[in-house]
Amino acid sequence: MVIIKNSRQIDGIRKSSHLAAIVLNRTASLIRPGITTQDLNNAADFFIRQHGATPAPLGYNGYPKSICTSVNDVVCHGIPSSKVILKNGDIINIDITTVLDGYYGDTSATFPVGQPSESARQLIDRTQAALALAVSRVGPGVTVNDCIGKTIATFIGRFGYSVVRDLGGHGVGIKFHEDPFIFHFDTDKNNTILKAGMTFTIEPMINASSDCRVVIDSSDGWTVRTADGSLSAQFEHTVLVTRSGCEVLTKL
Ligand code: MF3
Ligand code: CO
Ligand code: CO
Repeated sequence: MVIIKNSRQIDGIRKSSHLAAIVLNRTASLIRPGITTQDLNNAADFFIRQHGATPAPLGYNGYPKSICTSVNDVVCHGIPSSKVILKNGDIINIDITTVLDGYYGDTSATFPVGQPSESARQLIDRTQAALALAVSRVGPGVTVNDCIGKTIATFIGRFGYSVVRDLGGHGVGIKFHEDPFIFHFDTDKNNTILKAGMTFTIEPMINASSDCRVVIDSSDGWTVRTADGSLSAQFEHTVLVTRSGCEVLTKL
């Protein structure tokens, strides 16, 4: 069941989402060769609590850390670790979900570490552009498949990349993961018709090769990697459907 939020709930989700955006920006400013993903986790955890919020991932289905940090071929749900030291040329997605006054905001972005290859930087830029294009088409009366699934699949296919199919976006706000599930590729399962007051994430995961398959690390049960070892990038926003279109709640 898709929850239509009332104005009080929207206000709370807007505040939490804005905080998530600020925390993402502040945490990303620390990225440099030599820093560990555990350092980024600790900084983000500090920023979140400083604002009276809590990190949603910590303890969620047993997840052990406060944020997700996904480096290179890690698609998502990378677990911060003092053993993962960022090096020049890496790319890293940082995913922040805050709980403020009981309301959830969820956002992520992929960043270069030092100077990655031209192809890695193109993957980042095109993934961000795919999200922006989908956002620009969100509005009341539009199906999820028209504004998100088809839009992202068509845009991304031009570059020989692939859209990850096993994970997707989700309703968000009152809970971490609500209906509807948002597929980022063309499918008749994306049949929800958007209405003003819906809040959900759009968070395409794009693999640099034509192989969309992923594997979950059996040793930790969380880390999702590309099956073929290629790079993967992701950007995520929490959006609100309005009467005239949409509002990106996780913009700075
Ligand atoms: N923030 C992720 C998302 O975009 C979910 C992370 S679940 C966790 O939906 F348990 F790994 F934190
Ligand atoms: Co999300
Ligand atoms: Co997220």
